[in-house]
Amino acid sequence: MKLWSGMLSGELNKEAEEFNDSIKIDQRLIFYDIKGSIAHVTMLSKCKILREDESKKIIEGLEKIKKKLEDKDIEIDYTCEDVHTFVEEKLIEEIGDLGKKMHTARSRNDQVTTDLRLYLKDEVSEVDNLLKEYLQALCYLAENNTETIMPGYTHLQAAQAVTFAHHMMAYAMMALRDSDRIRDYKKRLNSLPLGSCALAGTSYPIDREYTAKLLGFESIMQNSMDAVSDRDYVLELHAILSLIAIHLSRLSEEIIIWSSQPFNFVSIDDMYSTGSSIMPQKKNPDMAELIRSKAARLIGNMNQSYIMLKSLPLAYSKDMQEDKESIFDSLDNIKISLTVMTGMLKTLKINKKRMLKACKEGYLNATDVADYLVNKGVTFRDAHHIAAKLVKIAQDNDQTLDQLDISIFKNQSNKFEEDIYEAIELENMVESRKSLGATAKEEVERQINFVKEKIGNKGDLK
Ligand code: ARG
Repeated sequence: MKLWSGMLSGELNKEAEEFNDSIKIDQRLIFYDIKGSIAHVTMLSKCKILREDESKKIIEGLEKIKKKLEDKDIEIDYTCEDVHTFVEEKLIEEIGDLGKKMHTARSRNDQVTTDLRLYLKDEVSEVDNLLKEYLQALCYLAENNTETIMPGYTHLQAAQAVTFAHHMMAYAMMALRDSDRIRDYKKRLNSLPLGSCALAGTSYPIDREYTAKLLGFESIMQNSMDAVSDRDYVLELHAILSLIAIHLSRLSEEIIIWSSQPFNFVSIDDMYSTGSSIMPQKKNPDMAELIRSKAARLIGNMNQSYIMLKSLPLAYSKDMQEDKESIFDSLDNIKISLTVMTGMLKTLKINKKRMLKACKEGYLNATDVADYLVNKGVTFRDAHHIAAKLVKIAQDNDQTLDQLDISIFKNQSNKFEEDIYEAIELENMVESRKSLGATAKEEVERQINFVKEKIGNKGDLK
């Protein structure tokens, strides 16, 4: 028998019933549903809508259900329509007809969105904590590699030398912004829809401020029609999570490239690598590849939600039941992606020698040859030309710039002296870039401290 049977027979076609049910998905809201109901009933008795002894018995019944669920003494009944129906049915089983009073001055429409907000409040704090651990791993790698010189790329063509620490801190800045977005989002999430009932509010003398206080909501949704039909908070979270996924995916892509044989810049620990069933020499970066592909999944989930909501008239429509599966899936996948990425970073081996060699082979000091001449009075355009010629000569002879004889430098310009070799030493080049945000050791150390201060020790990121 359905909660809503009355005018209708309550007997649905078998397939229609299965199609309509959401308990397999929304069961994970159960403890939030109980929490919301306890607050609701407490408010009803404070407002004298229920007698005190009645609310006491209902709350005791709800606490018992909670305990039984925790102890695995009761199982979810998948023939129930949804989690709200299940809890109400269990309550009536537990305390009898009095249980039927719980739903006074409430509708599943304000109930479901309250449950979801409560659930998401906990989930986003968890995501923020995982971001913090990920940031710690990035800082750890950066701290150990402030002097590890590697090629920085544009167009995936070797461009200028940077340090591995500098590169890691770029990802740290993205994660800081992600955390910042979560913090800002929490303000909007933290508003209570309960008490809006089906859509129009209620004639019962309820006290929504009181319910908000009991449930730890900072504000109350001001329009009951908006409150029951708003899913902005789901869509907004999808956007935030998708951005995190995109950041993780970009880093994954780099790790995949860096661990490939022509690069060989990093080696992923065996704990995070898989082998091939046929090629014995293979060590595959499956975890990074999966994290990369999760971004597609999160963006897909995000699109589903945006499209689901876009044409819905006010107020509640059953389409909204489809808001949960995708956001649950995105949360699950971003949490595991962050966890695996953090572990992979903490155990990543950095091949410093290989990175340095790649810098030399990539003629990353060509700009510095030009700068050297500019310092000696040559115009930049001419200096650029001379440097390009020297690169060409070196390339033709399969040499790096620092392997060219001084006579070859002098052939191109009489401004070259022995000190050219020092000027184009990669370490000196990196160290000379001290502008704010740049790659020199002291500057990257400042960036690391900046991030570490934001991470702090306890609680959410600052
Ligand atoms: N299972 C429903 C959902 O998740 C609960 C709300 C049902 N409300 C209704 N008017 N049928 O959206």
